[in-house]
Amino acid sequence: MRGRTRLFVLLLLSFFLCVSRSSAQLPPDVVVSARLLDVHLQDLAFKTLFSPRTGVSYDAQVPTNLTGIKVSTMRLRSGSLRTRGVLNYKEFMIPIGVIENPYVERLVLVYQNLGNWSDTFYPLPGYSYLTPVLGLLAYSGANLSASVLPELAIRASDKPVLVNFPNVKLLGAVAKCVYFDLHGSVKFDNLLPGNVCSTMQQGHFSIVAESNAPSPAPCSRGEVQFGGKNKIKKRKKTMLWMGGILLLVIIMGVLVVGVRRHRKRRVQELECVADGKSLLDMTSIGDIKVPFAFGTRTRPTIEHGYFA
Ligand SMILES: *[C@@H]1O[C@H](CO)[C@@H](O)[C@H](O)[C@H]1NC(C)=O
Ligand SMILES: *[C@@H]1O[C@H](CO)[C@@H](O)[C@H](O)[C@H]1NC(C)=O
Ligand SMILES: *[C@@H]1O[C@H](CO)[C@@H](O)[C@H](O)[C@H]1NC(C)=O
Repeated sequence: MRGRTRLFVLLLLSFFLCVSRSSAQLPPDVVVSARLLDVHLQDLAFKTLFSPRTGVSYDAQVPTNLTGIKVSTMRLRSGSLRTRGVLNYKEFMIPIGVIENPYVERLVLVYQNLGNWSDTFYPLPGYSYLTPVLGLLAYSGANLSASVLPELAIRASDKPVLVNFPNVKLLGAVAKCVYFDLHGSVKFDNLLPGNVCSTMQQGHFSIVAESNAPSPAPCSRGEVQFGGKNKIKKRKKTMLWMGGILLLVIIMGVLVVGVRRHRKRRVQELECVADGKSLLDMTSIGDIKVPFAFGTRTRPTIEHGYFA
């Protein structure tokens, strides 16, 4: 009995450890490659800003080895960002009251749509993307020929920035917003009506659904190497196996406890008989105890004569 309790406590504990890890961290190598892409796209975006007009969006040309990624950029006066916002910048709706830190007079917003490269730069085992990963990053617009610029921290002060995803293929699964900040941490949030995600900060955004992984999958997020899809598939198979083995162990445990209990009961009964406390022996058929008398005085005998 005690063994079984301990087993359940262990199971519960591991379950809660799994669940409590709801916001995760991307592994360092993934963060590095995603950040290198940010640097690269900033450079490409700034090259399109040759005597730009403020508040106008310019599309950048991406190299052929990044075909599928869309980059676009817009230069703004920081005052107009704060007092007017940008109501329609691609999928983003930037409200009034967004401020940057450190303060700059002009800033440049870089928009990224990672298209079919979303999985490559932001792999998320256990989830599948329902939309491309979109990025919105802010830089100082003081020197448009500068590259490898640090991002400015921009922050919505009153209302959040909204990301309005068009053409989401909701497949009946529970969809969630996912948010990657610039340091590699991953957060999940509720999807708002109309396929909208909200954020107070810059970063990368998408909508995901949990893929049909077995239930221990969320726990694997912390340990899994964020490799290719093959690795994830293998991982899922292993999880299934482990689940099966765990179930087997539980069943065996319950069986062993049951047999032991049964044996104990039998021993007690025998002791009772030995002590003379019970005149009738008890036997059990399944869970039911029935009296079983084998010392009956008048034994029924078949009178063979009748059949002769
Ligand atoms: C694309 O090609 C450039 C050289 O033209 C190279 O520096 C860069 O690393 C390549 N990017 C990817 C993602 O392969
Ligand atoms: C994305 O699609 C383009 C063609 O549209 C292709 O050249 C590129 O290799 C694809 N990228 C990935 C990561 O599959
Ligand atoms: C702008 O950046 C470029 C490249 O880093 C640098 O050569 C140039 O001196 C900078 N200009 C100013 C005005 O800071």
